[in-house]
Amino acid sequence: MQPSLACFNAACHARFDINEVIYNCPKCGGLLEARYDFSNIDATALKRTWRERRMSNAPLEQSGVWRYRELFPFLDNYADVVTLREGNTPLLQSSRAAEYGGLRSITFKHQGFNPTGSFKDNGMTAGNAQARRLGMKRVACVSTGNTSASMAAYASAGGLEPLIFIPNGNISYGKLAQALEYGAKTFQVDANFDQILALVRVLTERLGIYLLNSINPFRIEGQKSIVIEMMDQRDWKAPDWIVLPGGNLGNVSAFGKGLRELHALGFVDRLPKLAVVQAAGASPFYEYMRDRGEFHPQVHPETLATAIKIGDPVSWPKAQFEIETTHGVVESVTEQEIADAKAVIGHSGIGCEPASAATLAGIRKLKLDRDADVVAVLTGNVLKDPDYIYRYHTGQLTAPDGTAIKPTFGNAPIIVPNDAEQITALLK
Ligand code: F0G
Repeated sequence: MQPSLACFNAACHARFDINEVIYNCPKCGGLLEARYDFSNIDATALKRTWRERRMSNAPLEQSGVWRYRELFPFLDNYADVVTLREGNTPLLQSSRAAEYGGLRSITFKHQGFNPTGSFKDNGMTAGNAQARRLGMKRVACVSTGNTSASMAAYASAGGLEPLIFIPNGNISYGKLAQALEYGAKTFQVDANFDQILALVRVLTERLGIYLLNSINPFRIEGQKSIVIEMMDQRDWKAPDWIVLPGGNLGNVSAFGKGLRELHALGFVDRLPKLAVVQAAGASPFYEYMRDRGEFHPQVHPETLATAIKIGDPVSWPKAQFEIETTHGVVESVTEQEIADAKAVIGHSGIGCEPASAATLAGIRKLKLDRDADVVAVLTGNVLKDPDYIYRYHTGQLTAPDGTAIKPTFGNAPIIVPNDAEQITALLK
């Protein structure tokens, strides 16, 4: 069986050629996913091969994504791959964060160590490889920051032209700077993420540009490597919980698919539960899973965690399936809870961006079993929103509704005269 694209909708399940340029099922409009024949997979042999590849100097083996390519074999020629040595992100422990989250121990899988500073690199290396394989010249995305920086880097590295659409004034300066530096043609649009995604879908279709938002099934294939690498680093011992922030819900879809495949193929002996955490001001998926009934997009999502400021997440049907399959949960956390959790992760010497800190805030709120084995995925780098950090520590951070955020763990700089005596007195 050749790799194919399949409709995710259980009532349809139509199949399409892997090289069709489609992002939704042409028959029913459902989401698409890549499918493979895994009948020749030998988990024991592959675990050994993947370990051996870590010793290699070959670019493909050094990539923490492509090292695991047997579990997403959609390419027929690996010359299409552009790698910046993405993945290879560490597992980090913090007793301070564990205590804050009500746990005996906690492990962070820190995707902020990626080349452009977020987990998007795991998906973009795969999405750009497919773009090159299809002979595309231009790629496009809407982004609140990380996606654009990542797409710009991978497209430019691979000789494609990156086109980026961002919500005017709602993107972190550092991320915009990266996109510009990596050579992306950048459009600032007076609309929010969800509205611009609709716009970009029209433009990409009209102009034959390849769309690299997480609706693209090859992005999802690349992001599966986050959980594959995580299990490899844990010597294939599945944790009880994997916790991650949720925005457009592509990442939880990727984690769920990756975990199901690892389990079905005998790499791990059980499925971890997935916990998705949303910001209270942008929590349509949380509300849907709590109330059931219809899915209602949020028209005016608001949160300082701009990465997850999304009101109409495209991948919610996949996310629902993965949460239910793993017996997981969805939680929502306030701006104050995100800010405090972020400071705790920072004071652990680890640090992350606001969206990523929703994980620890969610863990604290969920009151998980104190002995649970928990991996929280920090999706982005601490340097994404330096202005947010400075404001928090100096008591100047306010939530979108105008509420002041308390600097519970504030660490303001101390202004001192150039005087050894006075500074000595302060330090005694
Ligand atoms: N964490 C970070 C750091 C992100 O940048 C994003 C998404 C998410 C979490 C949410 O992941 O959408 O797969 O549920 N950022 C997108 C962007 C929207 O444009 O960079 P998701």
